[in-house]
Amino acid sequence: MTTRTLEDTVVAITGAGQGIGRGIAEAFARAGASLVVSDIDAAAADATAAALRALGAPAQALRVDVRSADDNAAQVEAAVRAFGRLDVMVCNAGIMQVKHLLDLDAADWDRMLGVNVTGVFLSLQAAARQMLTQAPRAAGRPRGKIVNVASVAGRMGAGPIASVMPHYRASKAAVISLTQSAAITFAPQVTVNAVCPGVVDTAMWDAIDRDWSALTGAARGETWRQRVAGVPMGRAQTPADVADLALFLASRGSDYMTGQSINVDGGLVMS
Ligand SMILES: NC(=O)c1ccc[n+]([C@@H]2O[C@H](COP(=O)([O-])OP(=O)(O)OC[C@H]3O[C@@H](n4cnc5c(N)ncnc54)[C@H](O)[C@@H]3O)[C@@H](O)[C@H]2O)c1
Repeated sequence: MTTRTLEDTVVAITGAGQGIGRGIAEAFARAGASLVVSDIDAAAADATAAALRALGAPAQALRVDVRSADDNAAQVEAAVRAFGRLDVMVCNAGIMQVKHLLDLDAADWDRMLGVNVTGVFLSLQAAARQMLTQAPRAAGRPRGKIVNVASVAGRMGAGPIASVMPHYRASKAAVISLTQSAAITFAPQVTVNAVCPGVVDTAMWDAIDRDWSALTGAARGETWRQRVAGVPMGRAQTPADVADLALFLASRGSDYMTGQSINVDGGLVMS
């Protein structure tokens, strides 16, 4: 998308060092946003910020572990210090693990929910605290917008992923639920919506293919090929596909939407 729908808009994005988070950051930069991009990997966040500045966008990098309330508060403070406010918070950071349900232990479970659920909770709470205190950009508009990155994995009932990533699925279902609770809590001042991507070509899926293929004895790349073959739109998803929907949910055009979790998955899941 080339229209500058985020002109004069201040955005923070977690997990923006690579993959979907970086893709959203680049799309938002092209749309005119000013950005604070964070990641637990400081060097990766720095590299993203440099790429955004090369696109002409004001951008700062920060090391943020989304499990830390202090780090999340620091991210919001960085946006306010640099750009005066925070219009859009994208809660994207997440992790994945492929492990059979019977082999999971409590540490696996806690680690997954610690990043994917507690992380989103702390990021959106810190953002909302700032957004609720600031004036809207224009009369009648929300004071801020929150976009969570969930997954179709949080919706599917009995897909092939159910046995090998139950804690990931539970974490994404929790993000969909939290999106609704936060939307009710912060309406009408702040909108809260989520994107649910499908099979996206990132480092996360490369690791899924490696670990899932190891469980089943499939050749490397075979699991990925099978999953992509099941996508009605006939190709793997790119971070840019996700970014287009995130851009809409961050823009004025979605001002009357809140509490929604929207599939952007090439037709993989229809619900
Ligand atoms: N790849 C897919 O097919 C897919 C599908 C649906 C949803 N998602 C979701 O999209 C989001 C991004 O996924 P991706 O594919 O780009 O993954 P990725 O692994 O390529 O990138 C994730 C980023 O998050 C960062 N991160 C990890 N733990 C963190 C923490 N505690 N604090 C801050 N940053 C942390 C990583 O350093 C990395 O830069 C995740 O929430 C993921 O669950 C991915």
